[in-house]
Amino acid sequence: MTPSIIAIDGPAASGKSTIGELLARKLEYLYFDSGVMYRVVTAVALARSIPISDEVAVTRLAENVRIDFLPAQVPDGRQFTIQADGRDVTWAIRERIVDVNVSPVSAYPGVRRAMSAQQRRIGLKGRVVMVGRDIGTVVLPEADLKIYLDATEEERARRRYLERVARGEEVEYEQVLREIRRRDEIDSSRSVAPLKKADDAVYLDSTGLSVAQVTERVMAIVASAARVERET
Ligand code: CDP
Repeated sequence: MTPSIIAIDGPAASGKSTIGELLARKLEYLYFDSGVMYRVVTAVALARSIPISDEVAVTRLAENVRIDFLPAQVPDGRQFTIQADGRDVTWAIRERIVDVNVSPVSAYPGVRRAMSAQQRRIGLKGRVVMVGRDIGTVVLPEADLKIYLDATEEERARRRYLERVARGEEVEYEQVLREIRRRDEIDSSRSVAPLKKADDAVYLDSTGLSVAQVTERVMAIVASAARVERET
């Protein structure tokens, strides 16, 4: 049987959202990007001028903000529409200011508690591809298939840089690389649910591979997981 709960974790800009969405579409599963939730909390905190360093206020916000994932609706390249308390924040959560502040926000234990509980409830329904940092280790340790998607820092910075240029932003590659390094450092060293490969995750290095090549490998991993299950 095709694995029902699929977890894809990995560092910043490793291609999780592109591959996760393609995989979910092929399998006709729900695609769920857990990073969006941390981004929404960060974007709303910034919009309301809540200091990112105020753990109590940021945690209270995470516990109370209503996050909705809706079909794309607007044809502007979005994967889906994201609302925070009914307001469209689809592009606001991708801004650089959010990239820079999201890792400190997601390191707060209370914020994680609020977000992972919702993610777990959604994931346990099955037929889902969930992407993030701690899906295979903490949110859904019982996932039927876990993939850890990686790439070198330089390759990931290059991908994020090109994404930003395509969006018309003025950015410098060196700066994107610095910011990605900093985020990985915070994500990997935090005390609660740090980014790391689950012991039973399949490691996939996507450096130098095209989206089509990575998708092909991921599909092969899914097929082989289905085979193993049939044989046992
Ligand atoms: O797309 P990108 O890889 O740059 O980031 P993202 O997946 O949207 O995640 C943004 C941030 O949210 C990460 O840098 C983590 O700090 C946090 N995050 C997390 O802590 N746990 C998750 N399951 C997903 C994201």
